[in-house]
Amino acid sequence: MSSLKKDSWGSRVGLILAMAGNAVGLGNFLRFPVQAVENGGGAFIIPYLVCFLLMGIPLLWIEWSTGRLGGKHGHHSTPFILDTMDKRKFWKYLGVFGIFTNIAVAAYYCYIESWTMAYVYHSIAGTFDSMKQSEVAAFFGSYIDIGHSTTGIPYEAIIFYILCLLLNTFILSRGLAGVEKAAKIGMPLLIIFGIFLAFKGLTLGTSGATAEHPDANAFEGLNFLWTPQYDSLTNPKVWLAAAGQIFFTLSVGMGTIQCYASYVRSKDDIALNAVSAGFMNEFVEVVLGSLIVIPIAAGYLGVDWLKENAGFGMAFQTMPYLFEQWGPALSVIAGVMWFGLLFFAGITSSLAMGTPWMGFMRDEFKWDQNKGAWSFGLITLIMGLPTVIYFQQGVFDEYDYWAGTVSLVVFALAETILFAWIFGMNKGWKEINQGGDIKIPSVYRFIIKWVTPLLLLFVFIGSLVTPLNNDWIGAIQNGWVLDNSSIIKQLTNAGLKEQIAAATDPAVIKTLEEKLHYSLIARFMLVALFAGISWLVYVAYQKRIKEGRIKL
Ligand code: ALA
Repeated sequence: MSSLKKDSWGSRVGLILAMAGNAVGLGNFLRFPVQAVENGGGAFIIPYLVCFLLMGIPLLWIEWSTGRLGGKHGHHSTPFILDTMDKRKFWKYLGVFGIFTNIAVAAYYCYIESWTMAYVYHSIAGTFDSMKQSEVAAFFGSYIDIGHSTTGIPYEAIIFYILCLLLNTFILSRGLAGVEKAAKIGMPLLIIFGIFLAFKGLTLGTSGATAEHPDANAFEGLNFLWTPQYDSLTNPKVWLAAAGQIFFTLSVGMGTIQCYASYVRSKDDIALNAVSAGFMNEFVEVVLGSLIVIPIAAGYLGVDWLKENAGFGMAFQTMPYLFEQWGPALSVIAGVMWFGLLFFAGITSSLAMGTPWMGFMRDEFKWDQNKGAWSFGLITLIMGLPTVIYFQQGVFDEYDYWAGTVSLVVFALAETILFAWIFGMNKGWKEINQGGDIKIPSVYRFIIKWVTPLLLLFVFIGSLVTPLNNDWIGAIQNGWVLDNSSIIKQLTNAGLKEQIAAATDPAVIKTLEEKLHYSLIARFMLVALFAGISWLVYVAYQKRIKEGRIKL
């Protein structure tokens, strides 16, 4: 029987590429530019870089070192990794987040990944040839079935989603070797495709201006993003967005890094590896991620259009149309490169999301990698189909909010407190530096103990009680009224309920009520997943006691 437990990384390059592949994902190309534009361009970059240095890098070291420590004890997922760090029993249940988040995120993440597969196919098939911009946007709408078919079932999207999950599952069933191979192929191709598209973005200039968009200018897009605005430093909204992006893009607070690091040998370096993978992610995000969508869109449609229309779907609704402007051959090449790049970015991240579950089932229930991979595929399918079929009813967004945003912060905060304050900085610092190929500046000892947890606490509390309209000064001066985007208001669906109360059109009321209904179903699925994994952790714990592996 092949085992994940005996698995280890084939080479250091393989490990770094897999870790970088875990981090580099759809978030780098789809989420980062949108977050940057929505948060004022240059206003976003400084908080973003500060969050990277004070929260991202420390969390990478914490997660790499706790992962390697867990691996020494034969643990490859966070429930029992955290359990080795303190006597209290509840840590292993907090560790459930490190499996739960991955499955829940994989469920909707693979949906976007499957769009990229489909769009590679459509780019080659010439589907977008001579389409108008509105037609390309409408194609996307019909693909995901926003108000198009009478059945309400997006057949093509479902087929690609299942294909995408099958591919993920197949690679995962090959164990770490499969993951490493995918990273070794995917990451270099992604960078080559990215450099090509970034070059096009950089050299576009004003050549895309037309009578309809006379102000189109690619450089203006870049200026908007890269002209620092120091006043943003006092705006908590921008800080929260920057912190959220750092979490998502580095895959910290998820549990994947600990799982990958648990296969690192105890004498091997993590200090340099963690920074290398982190900086590789930042290069791809900040350099390549900002040189494609933003300059190309600004180069054809103008920066004002960009500010108004920046959104997640832009990559699918607008980019194929813009590529069409490059002529028949180059538009196919650019389409394949853009969606291929997104696909490689996506799959190297979604593969990582499968490994904590597989590691856990292997460690605790002796499931081999085949069983681990296929069960992951099945659970992800069950969790994911509602995000595909009820996409417009908001199931996707609900998963993204609770699993892809809130859970990351909660888990990162808990693990940082455990690491810096309970496990203790003396032991923690030793763990991080053991076998290190670089000497980490000792200021990071202070940062990990004080700055990172305080920043995390600020992010968590700031998200919990976000004031009305994100007006923090106003809230302090005139009394704290919660914004509907705060976690507390989201919990009660206050925003949706207000919209329902204010609506008069019966059709609108029906749509909103449907959203409310599906939001509850989505939450039920998430809670059921969390409860199910917690139960498995409980069973595993009892089993350990029975086998005498835990002394009470
Ligand atoms: N870190 C992954 C991304 O950026 C999840 O998409």
